[in-house]
Amino acid sequence: MNINKNTYFITGGAGFIGSNFIRFLFKRYGNGIRVINLDKLTYAGNENNLSDIEKDFHDNYKFIKVDITDDVTLSEIFKKYSPDIIVNFAAESHVDRSIKSPENFIQTNTFGVFKLLEHFKDNFYKDEKWIPNKRFIQISTDEVYGETKNKESFSEVSPLFPSSPYAASKASADLLAYSFVRTFKAPVIITRSSNNFGPYQYPEKLIPLIVNNCLNKKPIPIYGDGGNIRDWLYVEDNVRAIDIIINRGKSGEIYNIGGGNEISNIAIAKIIIDLVKNYTNSDIDYSLIRFVKDRKGHDKRYSLKTDKIRSLLNWKPETELKTALERTVRWYIDNRKWLENSTDKEYNLYYKDTYGE
Ligand code: NAD
Ligand code: DAU
Repeated sequence: MNINKNTYFITGGAGFIGSNFIRFLFKRYGNGIRVINLDKLTYAGNENNLSDIEKDFHDNYKFIKVDITDDVTLSEIFKKYSPDIIVNFAAESHVDRSIKSPENFIQTNTFGVFKLLEHFKDNFYKDEKWIPNKRFIQISTDEVYGETKNKESFSEVSPLFPSSPYAASKASADLLAYSFVRTFKAPVIITRSSNNFGPYQYPEKLIPLIVNNCLNKKPIPIYGDGGNIRDWLYVEDNVRAIDIIINRGKSGEIYNIGGGNEISNIAIAKIIIDLVKNYTNSDIDYSLIRFVKDRKGHDKRYSLKTDKIRSLLNWKPETELKTALERTVRWYIDNRKWLENSTDKEYNLYYKDTYGE
């Protein structure tokens, strides 16, 4: 591996957003950076998501299988590679799984973040001063604010009212990260984005699940009456925002990243069914939709104010929802093998347990 370049530690880089972020970095900076991808490879992580990067940027990209709660290995890796920028994507990320069994959410999403912060401080905080140019980006979520029922949207100073164990584990991590800012003046920044979609998203999440079920002519489970609203953000726009925040964001700050695309689940389901139908000349229609028992504590609507990142960092989402959905659906159709490999035995057991078929 090359040295003397900006070194990134990307935790959770084998997952959905992390792998998109690493690909974005190499597209943008080429061989001018080196990236160490630290991932435990849970059911949601797949080393092959970056096989193109592994091949094209062999000297500047390294994958290490590690759990972010593993102190001993983290110590060795921090000493060996001395990262400049840490971006923590590693998490248990699926709300429904957190409702069924929350423990590993607390372990990874809260305790794991604490461990990373500790290693960051142990390595780069000397004589009560931070070694210059070190940055820690904690990837958080709009779910920490909880749901909004009326017309309000949440800003970075809105109170935290997480609903699910997943959201609570992420909010707890945000508070820990912020305590390192207040107590040690740690160069930490928190990002809170809305629902991402795009290539490489594990098909337990709404959009790839719908595509997958359309391709297999399986029922599409929609919770409750389908009226819950999410603000969809194309993953390319999110990773571009994270890069801007690393380079121009202010230490100690929080940045909301929203797509500005609020739409109900039933409406998005219909759009995706139409897209798959058109692209595959299939005879599927909306009769695949099944209204099923609602998620416990299901947040009605998420909505973010994004004035801060727009005005201070000059970022805005650039990909129209329609274009982004078309590209995404195309990607899953063109990468059916990826979908098939992701829906392994574990996925099928989870699916059966959740939806009963
Ligand atoms: P994902 O589930 O696709 O990927 C998570 C990755 O973390 C996987 O590769 C997994 O193997 C790895 N991981 C899990 N536990 C680990 C551990 N203990 N040690 C090391 N690696 C571990 O998740 P995602 O959708 O890419 O989300 C990435 C981050 O973005 C998460 O922190 C999530 O909370 C946040 N986020 C996601 C969304 C979204 O819509 N997907 C929106 C806002 C915020
Ligand atoms: O808002 C950001 C969050 O978005 C991230 O922090 C999470 O990591 C990510 O998983 C996502 O959480 P959601 O719960 O919003 O995403 P999910 O794709 O699971 O569900 C989106 C909406 O669709 C939600 O209202 C629940 C509904 N849904 C979901 C599934 C899986 C259904 O109606 N049927 C389903 O089968």
